[in-house]
Amino acid sequence: MTQKGKEREEASLLVSDRFTALKGVQDILPPDIYIWQRIESLSRDVFSVYGFQEIRPPIIEYTGLFSRSIGETTDIVEKEMYTFSDRAGRSITLRPEGTASVVRAYIEHHLYNLPAPQKFFYSGPMFRYERPQKGRFRQFHQIGVEAFGVAAPEMDAEVISMLRILLERLGLKGLNFEINSLGCDRCRPLYRRSLIDFFSGKMEHFCPDCKRRFEVNPLRLLDCKVERCIEMRRGSPEIIDFLCDDCKRHFDELLSLLNMMDIPFKINPEMVRGLDYYTRTTFEVTTQELGSQKAVAAGGRYDRLVEEFGGPMTPGIGFAIGMERIVLLLKEKGESGHPVPDLFIATLGKEAIKRGLMIGERLRKKGLWVEVNLDAPSLKSQLRKADRLSSRIVFIIGEEELASGRLKWKDMKKGSQGEIAFTDLDNFPFLSGD
Ligand code: HAM
Repeated sequence: MTQKGKEREEASLLVSDRFTALKGVQDILPPDIYIWQRIESLSRDVFSVYGFQEIRPPIIEYTGLFSRSIGETTDIVEKEMYTFSDRAGRSITLRPEGTASVVRAYIEHHLYNLPAPQKFFYSGPMFRYERPQKGRFRQFHQIGVEAFGVAAPEMDAEVISMLRILLERLGLKGLNFEINSLGCDRCRPLYRRSLIDFFSGKMEHFCPDCKRRFEVNPLRLLDCKVERCIEMRRGSPEIIDFLCDDCKRHFDELLSLLNMMDIPFKINPEMVRGLDYYTRTTFEVTTQELGSQKAVAAGGRYDRLVEEFGGPMTPGIGFAIGMERIVLLLKEKGESGHPVPDLFIATLGKEAIKRGLMIGERLRKKGLWVEVNLDAPSLKSQLRKADRLSSRIVFIIGEEELASGRLKWKDMKKGSQGEIAFTDLDNFPFLSGD
């Protein structure tokens, strides 16, 4: 936004005296929150049967942690970080992702002394100053996992399989699993050299970012989203052709494990990922249903990162799911997430309200969601409300019911109705779990 635009925005806030949420962030409200909660609780269930334990790193870290791990020449570090000086003049950044913090915590707390593998999961907000659009936010949420200490491709296969099982249990089938290998310190320099050879002589046609990154980190040219750059890099060399024997063996073994586990995948030799710390396996889970924001989850191996941050040589692999994108997909599939009350107690008159309140309290202690009408609207409007809430059962208590000692009930799902004595309520079939 231009300086003028900013001033106008601030001025309008002052005039109207009403604040709105910042651009690119959102309030997560009911009923969507129920979809969020379902994703969170199912993730915990799935991760726990694989032995992943929760870790909660802070949301702020020293800026250097991110710039060094994610890479100085990445879009995230160059353009997207929320960085500020604290009161003591330290450079602090709101985390743009979770892996760097988990690696820092792993080293800082000497978790490498515990038996390998050490497996962690985390969830929470991440911050990137990107251009907001469908599925892309400035504050977004990830659920991520990181596993330390196993270099074998079986670990890659287990982590990818866990991600697939989670997505399938959420009801998301038919997503594309794209796999690539980015090689290691031995083979990547050869690939880098071949990229430089390929691109030199063509650089005048590239965008200023690519021009700048060409010498320092030519792999980043493959990540540029500018149409002209995409056109210009057609036919560029593919990393797969440069893998050393060890990386090639790792990749081939992983592919055959994925086949063995019946996980359909596609090799995508152009996938370089937007973060520099990856070695060997990288993967993305993509969909066609969210416009240009295709990746709903992504991850890979980072076998050098722990060592680079001063820990012992420890391989690592992980992924992160983009919560907003999963929620969008589930909503597009018609999931509302809205829970419904077990019972709505319609009451007519003060005495009936008191009786309804007592019944409600008794049933809530049993764990049922009970809505009791505490007001004085007509029966018709109460029934309309019960219907709007999609309550499974409705009780009606009025003067007549109080006098006879029997209330009227209606099962809204089955369409059945009847009467029951107040003294018999504990035997009501619905309450005994029928
Ligand atoms: P990433 O690819 O940068 O990887 O992000 C992972 C996922 O977060 C993306 O696939 C996407 O679903 C979601 N995401 C990213 N940016 C946004 C945004 N601005 N708005 C909404 N969703 C977004 C990482 O962050 C790595 N730390 C993943 C990882 C873990 N690699 C190894 N371990």
